[in-house]
Amino acid sequence: MTRYIGSVDQGTTSTRCIIFDRDGRIVGIHQKEHKQIFPRPGWVEHDPLEIWENTQIVIRGALSAAGLSGEALAAIGITNQRETTMVWNRHTGIPYGNAVVWQCTRTHEICKALMRNQGQNRFRDRTGLPVATYFSGPKIQWILDNVPEARIAAEAGDALFGTMETWLIWHLTGGPAGGAHVTDVTNASRTLLMDLYTLKWDPAILEIMRIPDAMLPRIVSSSDPGIWGWTRPDGPLGASVPVCGALGDQQAALVGQTCFETGEAKNTYGTGCFLLMNTGHTPVPSRQGLITTLAYQFGKSRPVYCLEGSIAVAGALVQWIRDNLGLITTAAEIESLAGTVADNGGVYFVPAFSGLFAPYWRADARGAMVGLTRYANKGHIARAVLEANAYQTRDIVEAMARDSGIALSHLKVDGGMVANELLMAFQADILNVPVIRPRISETTALGAAYAAGLAVGFWPDLESLRRNWAEDRRWRPAMDEPTRERLYRQWKKAVERTFNWIE
Ligand code: G3P
Repeated sequence: MTRYIGSVDQGTTSTRCIIFDRDGRIVGIHQKEHKQIFPRPGWVEHDPLEIWENTQIVIRGALSAAGLSGEALAAIGITNQRETTMVWNRHTGIPYGNAVVWQCTRTHEICKALMRNQGQNRFRDRTGLPVATYFSGPKIQWILDNVPEARIAAEAGDALFGTMETWLIWHLTGGPAGGAHVTDVTNASRTLLMDLYTLKWDPAILEIMRIPDAMLPRIVSSSDPGIWGWTRPDGPLGASVPVCGALGDQQAALVGQTCFETGEAKNTYGTGCFLLMNTGHTPVPSRQGLITTLAYQFGKSRPVYCLEGSIAVAGALVQWIRDNLGLITTAAEIESLAGTVADNGGVYFVPAFSGLFAPYWRADARGAMVGLTRYANKGHIARAVLEANAYQTRDIVEAMARDSGIALSHLKVDGGMVANELLMAFQADILNVPVIRPRISETTALGAAYAAGLAVGFWPDLESLRRNWAEDRRWRPAMDEPTRERLYRQWKKAVERTFNWIE
């Protein structure tokens, strides 16, 4: 009897596998970090072979932690860091270089050329996205322009492009021996190559970026009863399990939080921070610097869209404070360090390490710490680091209200940083709405499990998923209005200081 669903969450810093039961409870989990490769300032890479290796390790680890064998799984779903781009040989599985990570700014010149005379919104009507280094299309172009063997193989039909879910699904279902080459609508919507309305690759954009369509995966529903393939009995699951659910990680969190109604939203504090609001069956164009993107598609039903505010650096800033400055030894220590002071002492940290994403889209920005005096100490810096997440989120919430006409009455949160109570309390203060954390905080993996489970009838409908959601804790705003507005005004000034840094 198959009583569980497996979920692989391939994130920016680590890969984990979680096994869920029908109530959405975790019965087994295993996680492994991978190397962050920074060859030059602003460049970020991952090794795709290391990630596939880690995926196999964490699948075996989660099954063993749960005391289960692969046969106990009704299906497996995949969720992933989005936009991160790789190209590999379809016959050998060998990648043409490292994966170019979503945070990487190496496509700055390509993006500038794409924008010339036509501006940043050149493809927005069709794709919902501005031209930016964040998205996959220019990253594919960069690989094909800079790795001659990749271009030759792509033209000959021997190279495949994929984001992480595509890469892992291909491997899990057989790799060079006939693995499925697919991408779900949510991941495809992050390439700058997919038409938001037809859910097909846009031939005109492919031609502009000189990307051969033979290398592109088939675009599929996020939860597909058609089943893309079965895992191999000689693979990490040791059994033949249907692979039939995939969602970009932020969309997976939206699904895990059961935001199925128009106007429902969630904010995930991971490596970056991403606020997504369900806008129903209509793509809502943004005039405020947000992006219009796919939320999910279940089976053959009409796709659901969302507005997204993407923040490039959130938890990554805490990691940087730990690894590059050594101010703390574990990420959790940032909270106690920040707790040594009563406020930020006038210090603001704008983590524009990959330029600034929504709502600014400034590739020319770089990080800055401002407001320093001799009074400032490392407690104030820790506090500024945490507060940056809350201010960046407010930037997004304000843009979202203007775009959608819906003012959030509360904010559902998830992701690693929601364990940080100081941040959550400050977030409620700076937004002036309650912040709500669910009992199951692993919403990303849960969302991918839901996508896979819906496809095979493990969960019959959305109502059965809603019943699994329960509130854990709620933070209510407690800050007075003048203080809130003064702090936020200073933040906006700090943001402006980061502009025009790269020439
Ligand atoms: O768009 C990038 C995003 O999907 C990365 O998410 O959770 O790895 O920060 P995360």
